[in-house]
Amino acid sequence: MKTDIETIQRLVLEAAETARKETASEPEPEKSRKAKWPLTCTVGPGLEGAIACESKVGYVNGAKGWLVYRGYNIFELCAYSSFEEVSFLLLHGKMPKAVELDLFKRKLFNYARINKVIMQLMGFPIDQMSVMGALRLGANLMRSQYRNLDKANARPAPFDAISADEDSIAMETLPSGSERATFEFRSSVRRAAAKPKRGFDKASGLEDSCHLIAGISCIAAAVSRIHNGLLPLEPRPDLSFAGNLIYLITGRQPTPVQERVMDIALILHADHGMNASTFATMVVASTLADIYFSVGAGIAALSGPLHGGANEEVLRSLREIGSVEKVKPWIERKLAEKGKVSGFGHRVYKAYDPRARILGPLAGLLIKEKPELKPLYAVAQKLEETVLNTFGKEKKIFPNVDFYSGLIYSFLGFDDELFTPMFAASRVAGWTARVLEYMENNRIFRPRGLYIGEFNKRYVPLKLRA
Ligand SMILES: CC(C)(COP(=O)(O)OP(=O)(O)OC[C@H]1O[C@@H](n2cnc3c(N)ncnc32)[C@H](O)[C@@H]1OP(=O)(O)O)[C@@H](O)C(=O)NCCC(=O)NCCS
Repeated sequence: MKTDIETIQRLVLEAAETARKETASEPEPEKSRKAKWPLTCTVGPGLEGAIACESKVGYVNGAKGWLVYRGYNIFELCAYSSFEEVSFLLLHGKMPKAVELDLFKRKLFNYARINKVIMQLMGFPIDQMSVMGALRLGANLMRSQYRNLDKANARPAPFDAISADEDSIAMETLPSGSERATFEFRSSVRRAAAKPKRGFDKASGLEDSCHLIAGISCIAAAVSRIHNGLLPLEPRPDLSFAGNLIYLITGRQPTPVQERVMDIALILHADHGMNASTFATMVVASTLADIYFSVGAGIAALSGPLHGGANEEVLRSLREIGSVEKVKPWIERKLAEKGKVSGFGHRVYKAYDPRARILGPLAGLLIKEKPELKPLYAVAQKLEETVLNTFGKEKKIFPNVDFYSGLIYSFLGFDDELFTPMFAASRVAGWTARVLEYMENNRIFRPRGLYIGEFNKRYVPLKLRA
């Protein structure tokens, strides 16, 4: 007889096969060559289409429905890997050997014991704060507690200060394509005599990244418990990262199915190209602010409803619809009001989002342990079917990751306010991996704004203004 874990693996591999068949007619992308800067690309508002850097961390292909971390496709990682292994892969660029993985897991576990940070956090009015707000604060407390970075004389290591000072470059100057701010070297005698760079301290960067990956989820869990009038718990050495996360939130030892589904949800959210929170994290890191501040920026960016948070809206919609019969009239009303159905469509994916393809069947599996939630799942299935048949297939609007992630977290017993923090708990692996990669060859991010204002206006004293 197949175990539940084997069933999960089979469901993931079946999803992979369906994805392969459905997108077989789309051409496979060619491996990109190393860029020769400056690049020519068409840029839309919000930097859409701009290529800001090279990366080997991850890749998204909207037409094929591909999500790739360090060369491995997401289906294989979900079928065979764990969040700990995927985090190692993202940070180090290679799969760990058994002994390395063991050490890495132990490191994460040790870093997860952040009692002092939780105690400090409890001194703030976190009962009146959103979990995302508390996460942002918690990341800052981790920073000062662990790295003493807020001590009066602490300064970020100036390893690359030259490329951090760009404002003397006239805005009219075309990008030269240099990866370093050689302009500064050429233009300043004093600068030219500067000491050679010390280089980026990757070892401490890796330690800080592990600290953040371990800590963010613990803070989210602790805050959620405090919001429910419960005391935070300490992680257990016998549980995996995913198992501990469920335990720290709910106080229950998860079933093997729950633990594995949580593990897969974490894997699926770990990285997704140059999305807004990843970019925000990298922009802050590129100024040589430390990685804790940088991750704080990622958390802030993720808190916005245009980025994280759509899964909360999905659950609200499903509850509002209430029953399978009401799905069709609900959609008709939504479309008549020119509204969007939450959890459908994606800026990049014009094929079925591979993350939703995996999470959908897993939500179906979790339902077996929570039969009372069957009606909600039935509404979700009917909503998917109806959207696809009314306009989805024609407009290439498919369920996205948020459609099923909220349901999964809800089935695991998490409050809605934890959905976006769970995203952060996982994405911190991608944020830090991309920062570490970018720091190897840092150049401060500095796009331009197109000035469309006036010139030559004269100052009119206040009393003379009509
Ligand atoms: C994610 C999103 C912003 C992408 O938007 P986008 O890239 O502008 O989408 P497109 O322009 O390709 O949309 C094409 C068409 O599909 C429609 N469409 C896209 N998503 C839709 C949705 N969720 N519900 C209904 N119609 C949708 C658009 O209105 C547009 O219709 P039109 O051609 O008649 O004007 C959008 O799909 C959306 O708002 N989805 C709901 C929110 C959500 O789930 N967000 C989480 C994303 S991970």
